[in-house]
Amino acid sequence: MTIISQNSSNTSIAVVCFSNLRRQQTKDFCLRNGYPLINKKDKQYELLLLLHDDLIELYDSQLNTTISIDFLKGSLAHRHRFGGGRGQAIAKAVGLKSAITPTVLDTTAGLAGDAFVLATLGCPITLIERSPILFCLLENALERATLNETFQPITRQGFHIMQCDANDYIKEQRVKKQTAPDVIYIDPMYPDRKKSALVKKDMQILQRLHGKDDNTDELLDNALSFAKKRVVVKRPAYAGPLNDRKPDTSIKSKKTRYDIYTIEKML
Ligand SMILES: C[S@@+](CC[C@H](N)C(=O)[O-])C[C@H]1O[C@@H](n2cnc3c(N)ncnc32)[C@H](O)[C@@H]1O
Repeated sequence: MTIISQNSSNTSIAVVCFSNLRRQQTKDFCLRNGYPLINKKDKQYELLLLLHDDLIELYDSQLNTTISIDFLKGSLAHRHRFGGGRGQAIAKAVGLKSAITPTVLDTTAGLAGDAFVLATLGCPITLIERSPILFCLLENALERATLNETFQPITRQGFHIMQCDANDYIKEQRVKKQTAPDVIYIDPMYPDRKKSALVKKDMQILQRLHGKDDNTDELLDNALSFAKKRVVVKRPAYAGPLNDRKPDTSIKSKKTRYDIYTIEKML
């Protein structure tokens, strides 16, 4: 499995550790992934990974803002409580019905917003993220959430995170003849759009971190060769299908379209 050591864009990234508890972990992380470890916040770097005792966050110098992942409060928890349950477009797209709760492999975890929605609706889910920086945020969010009782049902039903390239993961699973997930979910970075002001801050930071995803075409092919029931690709409403590959059907919400490639009927 490939561990990516550099971000694919040319963004300058450094790491700052404010926690004695995390000192060794931080050194290991920097060594493994080739990021400089510096003593204090330095705005020369476009992105800074900040490690505190509890929280790990990503600071964007240009936007002067930080992002982190929190499964217990903030926008994710709000969507959990008020998001519309199984009636949401994403839930319909993965095939959730009252008697059907598919297993999902989210191959592009990012900040885990989509994965968390599916998990709160009952789907056992595995999240794959290739960026070491984002994986660090994910791991930290999970560390904090698992200490809380309200997260236990999600842990019990299955919420696993992995850092690797999803293409490698799928290929390996197929060679080892592992059980395939019912649904494979793909949410690539959105193609360029003219009105960049419309891109939310967290997605702007992700774009700075990654540049454009470069292998999601391959990912669609791999997903189609492995998923049991369907592959779902999230697209912006204005964009064509991934890889120009026509889906069997689509579910649309205001700004988003979920392209569905059916392999087998959901029963
Ligand atoms: C648009 S973001 C996903 C956002 C996510 N759905 C959410 O709700 O936060 C796409 C993410 O997929 C990751 N990614 C792209 N290709 C990947 C691959 N082949 N394997 C693993 N992760 C990948 C990128 O690093 C990026 O973080």
